[in-house]
Amino acid sequence: MKTAPIPIQKPFLRTLAGETSERPPIWLMRQAGRYLPEYRATRAQAGSFLELCYNPELAAEVTLQPIRRFGFDAAILFADILLIPQALGQDLAFKEGEGPLLAAIRSEGELAKLHLDGLHQRLGPVYEAVGRISEALPKETTLIGFAGAPWTVATYMLEGHGGNDQAAAKVWAFGNPVGLDRLITLLVSATVSYLDRQIQAGAEVVQLFDTWAGVLPDEQFQRYCVAPVKAIIAQLKALHPQVKVIAFPRGAGVNYDGYAAATGADALGLDYTLPLGWAREHLWGKGQVVQGNLDPRLLLVGGQALADGVQRLLRHFGGRNYIFNLGHGILPETPPAHVEQLLRLVRGTSVSA
Ligand code: CP3
Repeated sequence: MKTAPIPIQKPFLRTLAGETSERPPIWLMRQAGRYLPEYRATRAQAGSFLELCYNPELAAEVTLQPIRRFGFDAAILFADILLIPQALGQDLAFKEGEGPLLAAIRSEGELAKLHLDGLHQRLGPVYEAVGRISEALPKETTLIGFAGAPWTVATYMLEGHGGNDQAAAKVWAFGNPVGLDRLITLLVSATVSYLDRQIQAGAEVVQLFDTWAGVLPDEQFQRYCVAPVKAIIAQLKALHPQVKVIAFPRGAGVNYDGYAAATGADALGLDYTLPLGWAREHLWGKGQVVQGNLDPRLLLVGGQALADGVQRLLRHFGGRNYIFNLGHGILPETPPAHVEQLLRLVRGTSVSA
């Protein structure tokens, strides 16, 4: 006797599976963060941002805070894309108000010192946090694990910090492509192992953040953004065929077209510069699941401007294949009341194609 497939209950997973819905599921990038007073209190309790990342109990707590407060359809593990370089042996610090600081890699000799051996020992607390979150989440909420895409992680490892166009990594891309390939290959292995463990611990979907995908010319974009993401997804899907992958190649522009087919990503995170008409014609209109792309500054402004921005998105992507989100992370100055307004706007409106 044939058994009927088990129906998927979680709205977020249903949308990823292509089912229609009255309203899009919603979560926000950086939904756990400084705009929430309860986050600031827990971070103070942990001592620092990194101590918070490595404290399973408190990392689980801050992951759950925005779920309790707003009831988003998905929770994203609280961690950082730069924990991988640290687990590979690179020194990392977060200076208050300055963002990340890594001991920049300047030579192939320094590159050769990085190693995978201590990866899981170092990242064990992250997997423990995933397990705790998975147990504590409401049954209708999906748990998203994540990692940085290799190119973006490499840009921080080579530059030492964030910048405007991640110049050091581009110098490697043009001047020592084989050296950069070596780093990217190491990051592909580390990322597959890391995400495999997150999935084993309870992550149901994973997102790959390629924040700096937009700074490379086409040939290098294919080599350092598309190829490694494709390799990661192929290896993950071989281990976990059921897991859906969202890719966020921020700033990819027209390279969004064909990116999902080339990498095997199930859904595409759209950044806030991508024109909606173009995205509807080239992506969503062809059956692609998309996520995004409200400008985080519109959420900061709130009011009628926010309402108009939300309506535009719902008009362009109605009824299916759409996950509501921002086009980049929520800004620390955002009033939590604007997030409540956003949820009313998205949930109070029924959408149709
Ligand atoms: O809620 C969530 O989205 C989950 C947690 C999360 C964080 N970072 C926590 C964080 C996620 C998914 C990330 C991803 C991340 N980290 C990216 C990719 C997405 C993006 O924003 O482009 C990047 C590039 C990083 C590296 C990073 N971490 C930077 C450049 C900074 C400094 C900028 C800033 O906002 O301060 C961080 C710090 C960071 N990561 C914070 C949080 C909540 C703020 C640290 C603090 O609490 O002081």
